[in-house]
Amino acid sequence: MDWGMRNRLSRIIKPATGKTVMLAVDHGYFQGPTTGLKNPGKTIKPLLPYADALMLTRGILRSQVDPGTDIPIILRVSGGTSVLKDDLSDEEITVSIEEAVRLNASAVALSVFVGAENERQTLVSLSRLVNEAQTYGIPVLAVTAVGKQMVRDARYLGLASRISAELGAHVVKTYYCDGFKQVSSSVPVPTVIAGGKKLPERDALVMTKNAIASGAVGVDMGRNIFQSDSPVGMIKAVRAIVHQGAGVDAAYRIYEAEKKTKAAKKKVGKGR
Ligand code: 5RP
Repeated sequence: MDWGMRNRLSRIIKPATGKTVMLAVDHGYFQGPTTGLKNPGKTIKPLLPYADALMLTRGILRSQVDPGTDIPIILRVSGGTSVLKDDLSDEEITVSIEEAVRLNASAVALSVFVGAENERQTLVSLSRLVNEAQTYGIPVLAVTAVGKQMVRDARYLGLASRISAELGAHVVKTYYCDGFKQVSSSVPVPTVIAGGKKLPERDALVMTKNAIASGAVGVDMGRNIFQSDSPVGMIKAVRAIVHQGAGVDAAYRIYEAEKKTKAAKKKVGKGR
């Protein structure tokens, strides 16, 4: 691996711990104005100090994120479909590699839909993206997206993750499942988990803890952070698990403490 590629990966997966907390806010690329992301700039800003990288589309990056920020960017470069379609797999590469360079992306991200109608198209797109990104030393994060009709078990997620790595992805993002060790151990590159649908905060922290214990190098989490009643509390708690090996109870206390502090500040503000 060349120096630029390694350096970009080191900006995302922190060398001090070998772990990462990526904040995913790219949901609008097929979901439109997702709950918690109606005003993405407002959602993102307070979370940036606690994120190791920010995953988003070029439209939200250009319009909502201060270019003076030093957060590493994971640029989503696939799309072409919407939640109105039954089959979400009809994606292609939507952003050129030159644009990713211009936007100073530390990595580019694309979804693959293994087992879906457009499996071949998305896997060929991944391979093409790896070819192009390799030229500029930009790592590719493959998102093993799960179609509506597919199960999120170790067999399926392991298959999709391994194929992504075989085609050249430098990092694989998948979902947590029972037997996750089987998934992470069959992939020769770092794996991170998505959070998936919003869970009660403690459950999301348990999932994070289990994923790290089963070989994930971190999370690329969205809704379980920005849809929480305390997004800053949640990202701090997730961070404590990922980087410091905190237990679920300790992490949950971090979330609760932040939530209480915010509520107290709000009360003081109202009293003025
Ligand atoms: C969509 C994505 C999202 O970034 C991903 O789902 C992460 O967000 P969440 O934690 O909300 O699942 O890649 O395909």
